[in-house]
Amino acid sequence: MKDPLLALSYDDVLLVPRFSSVRSRKDPCTATQLTVHIKLEIPIVSANMDTVTESRMAIALARLGGIGIIHRFMSVEREVEEVLKVKRAEAFVIDDPYTVEPETLLTEARARMQHLGAALLVVDRKHTLVGILTNRDIEFVRDGLLCVKDVMTTRLITASRKISMSGAEEMFKLHKIEKLPLVDAKGKLVGLITKKDIVTRMRNPHAAKDNKGRLLVGAAVGVVGDYVARTKALVDAGVDCIVIDIAHGHSIMMKEAIAKIKKITGHSVDIIAGNIATAEGVRDVVAWGAHAVKVGIGPGAACTTRIMTGVGVPQFSAVLQCAKMAKRLGIPVIADGGIKYSGDITKALAAGAESVMIGSMFAGTDESPGVEIVKNGARYKRYRGMASLGANVDKNELLNPQQTTDYQSITPEGVEATVPYKGSLGATVAPLMGGLRSGMSYLGAMTIKEMSQKGEYVRITQAGIRESNSHDIDVK
Ligand code: XMP
Repeated sequence: MKDPLLALSYDDVLLVPRFSSVRSRKDPCTATQLTVHIKLEIPIVSANMDTVTESRMAIALARLGGIGIIHRFMSVEREVEEVLKVKRAEAFVIDDPYTVEPETLLTEARARMQHLGAALLVVDRKHTLVGILTNRDIEFVRDGLLCVKDVMTTRLITASRKISMSGAEEMFKLHKIEKLPLVDAKGKLVGLITKKDIVTRMRNPHAAKDNKGRLLVGAAVGVVGDYVARTKALVDAGVDCIVIDIAHGHSIMMKEAIAKIKKITGHSVDIIAGNIATAEGVRDVVAWGAHAVKVGIGPGAACTTRIMTGVGVPQFSAVLQCAKMAKRLGIPVIADGGIKYSGDITKALAAGAESVMIGSMFAGTDESPGVEIVKNGARYKRYRGMASLGANVDKNELLNPQQTTDYQSITPEGVEATVPYKGSLGATVAPLMGGLRSGMSYLGAMTIKEMSQKGEYVRITQAGIRESNSHDIDVK
């Protein structure tokens, strides 16, 4: 073994203030690259964990300018559906709206509407639009043996595919409608514009979007089992990036997986590879074809990898080393795990990361999967490591539903926990971005790129950590 290097965590360091020509803390620009080809408006990525990111989180975060990565611990069909929900959330035109046939039983149509949270357009076998089925049509109806055609609205206002955004706005205003189906000259359904989507677009001017105006979303895959078919289905659904997500990304499994996945994604979908924690790891996964690297072995709030295996690199140093190599290769770094305060985001970006991935800080929000838990009058939500015992058991059951899990075959590298309930994602992200912008102004950096050029750090002691927190006063 070589002599040990000293490795530092976020808490071990502070950034040094520099001369700043930033006049207002609102001025610094937080736009960044997630991957070689994907731009974000804020450097925030939600973790591909089953207590953090499904479509609801991904939609909310993309509206704020970041991106969510849908986790992979579900069937291929469900992961695809989660991606589609994001892609449909606020496109100006929904290319492939949900449809139903006039003869379908109302009970069935109602169940679908509830499941999708959307109205259905009624089309005949030739795909000609014949009606629309919204909540208003079914609210006070007893389903019995009724069919869709018995209750659907047939007086329709439609437009052609060529309609502009302002033209659509006029139609909504003039006809007081909520949905505007688009039809071709023969009356065939070719798209849908909804009033809700237009209003949401106006409210979220900084949303992270693809070139069709749809919200950005990523999705995770593994390196064994159905991962090739899963990737193909996700790409067909319009996913923007594939995260190849394994505990030890600097491995032969990753090399083989990237080679297979690249054949499917081609040049259209970027690949994020992780997790890794060394410069050699970056060099190799980039040589294999990654368009971004995810850095972090063991810094996460629910991780016990370092304790169980004795392996890992404290996160500030891991990001610093990986980012140096990644910058040489022109590939962005995502600092994954260990973010506890907004200041940690500033430190990660100053160390050279282009974005940070967050799990525990988002798990308590309304938008994370799962319901609230009340303990002693206080509200919580569940948060678990994806290598925890419970997550491993659920993974086994998903893969082999007929077999009972042999608990002794599992060595967990994560824990299951609860985190305080926090309300909306927006209320958590706003102070994180406020802290980051303020941090940028202390560094004199107007852009995230400038942060790593201007960032200098000092190591601090326990006394420094104590001094950094509020101290010697009675804080309620
Ligand atoms: P935070 O600190 O934001 O970290 O909660 C989220 C990241 O933690 C990683 N992760 C794990 N690491 N065992 C681990 O060693 C686990 O069970 C586990 N689950 C998640 C992952 O990189 C995530 O983005």
